[in-house]
Amino acid sequence: MKQVIISRYGPPEVLKIRENQIPEPGDHEVLIRVHYAGINFSEIMARMKLYPGAPKPPTTLGSEASGIIEKVGSSVTGFKPGDKVMSFCRFGSYSTHICVSEQMVFALPERFTLDQGAAFPLVYVTAFMMIYDLGNIQPGEAVLIHGAGGAVGTAAIQLIKHAGAGIIGTSSGWKHEKLKKMGVKYCIDYRKENVYDKVMEFTQGTGVDLIIDPLGGKSWKNGYRMLAPMGKLIVYGDQKIVSGFRKNPFVLLKELFTIPKFNPALMLGENKCVMGYHLGKLRNAEHKIQNAVDRLMKIVDTGKLNPVIDRIFHYTEAPECHRYIQERKNFGKVLLDFRKE
Ligand SMILES: NC(=O)c1ccc[n+]([C@@H]2O[C@H](COP(=O)([O-])OP(=O)(O)OC[C@H]3O[C@@H](n4cnc5c(N)ncnc54)[C@H](OP(=O)(O)O)[C@@H]3O)[C@@H](O)[C@H]2O)c1
Repeated sequence: MKQVIISRYGPPEVLKIRENQIPEPGDHEVLIRVHYAGINFSEIMARMKLYPGAPKPPTTLGSEASGIIEKVGSSVTGFKPGDKVMSFCRFGSYSTHICVSEQMVFALPERFTLDQGAAFPLVYVTAFMMIYDLGNIQPGEAVLIHGAGGAVGTAAIQLIKHAGAGIIGTSSGWKHEKLKKMGVKYCIDYRKENVYDKVMEFTQGTGVDLIIDPLGGKSWKNGYRMLAPMGKLIVYGDQKIVSGFRKNPFVLLKELFTIPKFNPALMLGENKCVMGYHLGKLRNAEHKIQNAVDRLMKIVDTGKLNPVIDRIFHYTEAPECHRYIQERKNFGKVLLDFRKE
């Protein structure tokens, strides 16, 4: 079988192809012949040594995939060879074959193609748990999505629309037309416009009820100021530490110093809330993920969730694929195609 690995920390070109033995599934595992793997920003960070907790190179990577089950372990009851599935995976889905616990595998919804299946698990569960579980979204509320044109961003748009709330999105300017077509009411080009001023203008000075922010310290600090009473700021990434194609200690240090300190006593008086979310660190809370997936699948059944796929690269083009995302060229999800070895 073939795997894409991080051979050492560095620019996209450190991604290499490795030949390996096809693994045997354990008792509670299934072996999936991967068709597509979803690319996530965290893998770019892992490649640059900016993702705490990721395994050290040389290492496989990848958190989600879709494909067809080839073999099942002796205790597996929910799946059989030939089933089309989508799956979470811990640092290994950039591969033609993966073994994963049956708990991390889900039947591909009938209305999804296999490429949509690879664009679904991580980003939709992330967006769903932030918006519905932590964010407790209500119809008529106003939500600010940072990185609205990204993979999590486009998933969040569909979920917020489903909840009947209004959306303000930040992104590079060229994505605005597409965002408006998806239902974003107001778009902000953060490179040219003052995000705080625009949000206050769009909300007639009230601020927003919910912010989902993967950017970093300066934006989190600004976000807190933009919250309406009972507003919630959910931080779920620190993309600002990614600058250029290699780790830059000066950028990292500068970012660390911008991380705001929130004062609970002031939060009490202001009726504002700051929360963190990290799907990868939800160990021993798998039942909460499962619960979110069950509720998410009910929305899938309504036909309102359609993963936005920007581009599919063959797995041998993994370096080009990482570079493409880092150059901010994607609108929605980017995948690797593992169908042809
Ligand atoms: N906590 C969790 O459980 C969790 C789960 C999934 C994802 N995340 C985080 O959510 C964020 C979005 O992830 P994603 O996979 O959906 O990626 P993505 O949004 O597709 O990432 C690419 C886009 O991010 C924007 N961006 C902002 N800062 C950037 C930078 N320094 N370098 C390159 N692009 C930058 C660009 O859009 P614009 O040009 O439009 O700004 C770019 O097109 C990431 O920070 C990721 O780590 C967290």
